[in-house]
Amino acid sequence: MENVHVVSNPFVADALTHLRDKTTATQEFRHFSDIICQILIAESLKDVSMLPVTIETPLTTIKGQKLAENVIVIPILRAGVAMLPSALTVFPKAKVGFIGLQRDEQTAIAKEYYWKMPHITAEDIVLITDPMLATGGSTVHLLHKIAKKQTKIVRVVCVIAAPEGIHAIQKAFPNVHIITAAVDDHLNDKKFIVPGLGDYGDRYFGTTEQ
Ligand code: PRP
Repeated sequence: MENVHVVSNPFVADALTHLRDKTTATQEFRHFSDIICQILIAESLKDVSMLPVTIETPLTTIKGQKLAENVIVIPILRAGVAMLPSALTVFPKAKVGFIGLQRDEQTAIAKEYYWKMPHITAEDIVLITDPMLATGGSTVHLLHKIAKKQTKIVRVVCVIAAPEGIHAIQKAFPNVHIITAAVDDHLNDKKFIVPGLGDYGDRYFGTTEQ
């Protein structure tokens, strides 16, 4: 699938297996979530431009490179916030915007309940984080809202994507790249990803019984 990047890496595979395992408790789930999200976030912008710099090591002078981009991370509340610590570890200077979207349990249609964004310019790179790309409704809703800003790059970082969500994004925003650890098989009748890992937000924030 064009513009879909499935990150292949033993640390990602190991972390994903722990996340999928229903016996993984909250503390362990957070640990492996942080690992996998740091790798996915770093991979999502591995092609961005760099700034050449000259620095002094303790021994000599060398030429190095520094990240030159303005990054804005937008986690989709609530589960997307689980990816924020990792995003800020990788991009400590990033600005952060928040959108609150909650899927209706019957219709699976996402309804917006919160919006707080930094100033977004055409020079910015926007990273949308939501660990579960299911129908794609939540992410497409956000993409429509930020499309008018005409930012340089918009990328979607998720942990698991369903084919339905990928198609929804590609249909509406064919130039948006999706970075994920896995593309799963399908959505069930409740629009949950199968095989998936359950409800990421509940498992990360400890709002389910383990
Ligand atoms: C779930 C999931 C994603 C969203 C994906 O969140 O965590 O954020 O649905 O669904 P979509 O691709 O079909 O739009 P939910 O709405 O249950 O809210 P939560 O993050 O507060 O748990």
